[in-house]
Amino acid sequence: MNDTIFHIEGLGGKKTLSGEVKISGAKNAVLPLFASTLLFNGKVSFTNIPEIEDVHRMLELLEGIGVKYTKSGTESYTLDATRVKSTKIDHEIAKKLRASVMLTGPMLARLGKVSLPHPGGCVIGARPIDIFLGGFRKMGAKCTETGDSYVITASRKLRGAEIFLRVPSVTATESLMLAAVLAEGKTVIRNTAMEPEISNLAEFLNRCGAEINGAGTARIEIVGHKGPLKQNGSQWPAIPDRIETGSFLILGALCADDLLISKCEPKHLESLIVSLIDAGVPVEVGKNSLRIKGNGKIKNNKFRSFNITTHEYPGFPTDLQAPISVFLTQSGGEALIFETIFENRLGYTGDLVTMGAEIRALDAHRVIIKGETSLKGRELYGPDLRAGLAFIIAALVAKGESKIHNVYYIDRGYESIDVKLRSIGAKVERI
Ligand code: EPZ
Repeated sequence: MNDTIFHIEGLGGKKTLSGEVKISGAKNAVLPLFASTLLFNGKVSFTNIPEIEDVHRMLELLEGIGVKYTKSGTESYTLDATRVKSTKIDHEIAKKLRASVMLTGPMLARLGKVSLPHPGGCVIGARPIDIFLGGFRKMGAKCTETGDSYVITASRKLRGAEIFLRVPSVTATESLMLAAVLAEGKTVIRNTAMEPEISNLAEFLNRCGAEINGAGTARIEIVGHKGPLKQNGSQWPAIPDRIETGSFLILGALCADDLLISKCEPKHLESLIVSLIDAGVPVEVGKNSLRIKGNGKIKNNKFRSFNITTHEYPGFPTDLQAPISVFLTQSGGEALIFETIFENRLGYTGDLVTMGAEIRALDAHRVIIKGETSLKGRELYGPDLRAGLAFIIAALVAKGESKIHNVYYIDRGYESIDVKLRSIGAKVERI
């Protein structure tokens, strides 16, 4: 992974960015959609697929077990799992892509066996997979841990079960839902995650003959389908990326006079939109767009601070916790950030302090941010995808130049981020 750097010239608090940003397809919708092709015989086509590292990693993983794929145009892919044979998830790639764990459900359902490395905890937390394993055992699978990998086997077809998730894990919900599609009989999963990406996945599978009820609620019921699914209808579009949308909305509030965010889905982002409007940010909500207008003359410290407690959807998304923290260093007042989902997702605040922010850590889950503080450009190392984006926002708010390392992390989840930023007037250079 070469160390590409972003060189950014700060606006020093001025709000001069303007223009239009088009939102790409959602990384966290595409990953389960691609994984679901293992439930099919024959070709499955998708569109609105972003060109990002994690999508390429997932395609490499799938190719490694026998899935064929072709790309057409700039954003459409056709996958074909007819000749899937290997039951081993590539260790190297799985170590880099936590979402690879999502393949366990469909592979178990399709092949009756799957082996994967213990998915390394990443910088934001340990991220165990006990909830996945507990669900598979309930469906009749055997899970053994040998060295640094797991082997999960189901001697016969998985059978429908009643499963309660200890934690409403997003990828565990998706993986178990996929396994249940080819299981015998009915599966009921309770305390499920309710993210829009899960509803998008269920809607797609139901269109292809699956019987999934309740996706998007805390109780999902799946009736097992006899044999593999077949795609019905044309290419299935991935929903717009709500986290990319939120990242640009926060950037717009801090640095733009007139910013149009198009091809997005505002109703997937109500928690952030309501918070920003309550804080005094002039946000106009359209059907598939968001606009920040006449913002140039409002000083950032005129925005009211607010406390954030991250929460499963539809609560405030943990993936926007780092970006919103930068906003709270600029609004007038004190704010508590309570990160409830991951146990190590506040480390980046130390870097913001070196830029001039006033942030006090209370414990591993909580910090107090005191705005407004002016920020100075620095050399920063993004620890993960979302903190990396937060550093870009902080660097654009700051006075002077910044260098942001580990751009690979940012490219994992944001398509052509520097191109989009330059198109609205930001001075960002990829070196
Ligand atoms: C999904 O991760 C997203 N990734 C994450 O986005 C997002 O931050 C997270 O949901 C929470 O919204 C994808 O959808 C690909 P979890 P996921 O399982 O499903 C614990 C990004 O930046 N847990 O909901 O892996 C876990 O430790 C990424 O795009 C168990 O204890 O997250 C964590 O504390 C980052 N045992 C909590 O659940 C398990 O078996 C939530 O994790 C599984 C999870």
